[in-house]
Amino acid sequence: MIFVLMSFIFLVNPNNNKLKMNKIHMVDLHGQYLKIKDEVDAAIAGVLDSCAFINGPEVKEFQRELEEYLGVKHVIPCGNGTDALQIAMMALNLQPGDEVITADFTYAATAEVIALLKLKPVLVDVYKDNFSINPRAVEAAITDKTVAIVPVHLFGQCVDMESIMDIAKRHNLYVIEDVAQAIGAEYTFSDGTVKKAGTIGTIGTTSFFPSKNLGAYGDGGAIYTDDDELAKKLKMIANHGQSVQYYHDKIGVNSRLDSIQAAILRIKLTHLNEYAKARQEVAAYYDNVLGQYPSIVIPELCNYTTHVYHQYTLQIVNADRNELRKFLADKGIPSMIYYPLPLHVQKAYLDPRYKDGDFPVTEELCKTVLSLPIHTEMTKDQLDYIINSVLEFVKPKFLG
Ligand SMILES: Cc1ncc(COP(=O)(O)O)c(C=O)c1O
Repeated sequence: MIFVLMSFIFLVNPNNNKLKMNKIHMVDLHGQYLKIKDEVDAAIAGVLDSCAFINGPEVKEFQRELEEYLGVKHVIPCGNGTDALQIAMMALNLQPGDEVITADFTYAATAEVIALLKLKPVLVDVYKDNFSINPRAVEAAITDKTVAIVPVHLFGQCVDMESIMDIAKRHNLYVIEDVAQAIGAEYTFSDGTVKKAGTIGTIGTTSFFPSKNLGAYGDGGAIYTDDDELAKKLKMIANHGQSVQYYHDKIGVNSRLDSIQAAILRIKLTHLNEYAKARQEVAAYYDNVLGQYPSIVIPELCNYTTHVYHQYTLQIVNADRNELRKFLADKGIPSMIYYPLPLHVQKAYLDPRYKDGDFPVTEELCKTVLSLPIHTEMTKDQLDYIINSVLEFVKPKFLG
């Protein structure tokens, strides 16, 4: 009863009408769980009953079902998306000092793993309208020490992979796709071939963090590849460097997806396309209205990729983004800034090679981006309320 009372809020919309609606979340994990509760509860009970907590049949089945969904030969489940990146780089035998190119505008995990392995993160700028790594900047950053490119399919749509793969081929580089935010997105090549994000480069890595589009109820991750030999290495490294128990051929890590998470993910995988559709509908609803206002730049949808809208990210250009965020918070509307700082000015990644102004697009985006709530359970009332509230703030400013 307490929960029911707390989960509703009374809000006053810009027309001064009182609205009763569910509390607005950036992502509504509870609402989504309620719709699959019976299935999920039974699956968890099944694992408890079997006591096959580690590497049980649920993990193997999930692995097989994800391979089928992605159209990839090998999926190696692991502990989280950061481990997935680390295991991928370990399996490619990258050596200390080797340069790995990635975007300045991304979640830190991507660069963190490069630095942790004593490789050299080489940062490059992104496209302003779709936030994706700029292939021209990638090519300009290549030196004789470059060994790999890590394109991040940020916010849910694919990077321009045809250009990235062309550069990688010409310079003999590995491509590790970071798909943490874009599982299920599809890339269409100019010859019409369609591939899922993460199945185009040498290796793809993803995260099942609860708020991700395919989110577990704890941590989880996976690595994908079509290469049989590489798959063996990835599996071995994720398992203490052993392929036969107690015989350790390589220094590895301990990174496992547990059976309870796998059982939950199996159920959620069957809903993944419908989850993407729900997010796309929310984005289209936002776009339709917000796209008409010059103070707001809506996210560009590129013609070579589908967008699964892990985030719906605006650029607020002629109004104060931080004030808008406060204004929305006062009305019970959460929003997030992904990301407030470019990587090259984060304390952990300061490097004398880089200075202010080196990545003008990323630097500008960090000042203007604002992500609005987007998830699978949003209602029209909630969307109208959010849109009207954004416009209430933005409209007078651009009229005046
Ligand atoms: C782009 C990107 N890469 C990697 C990760 C790391 O995933 P995890 O939190 O599962 O380690 C995340 C998680 O937020 C991410 O957004």
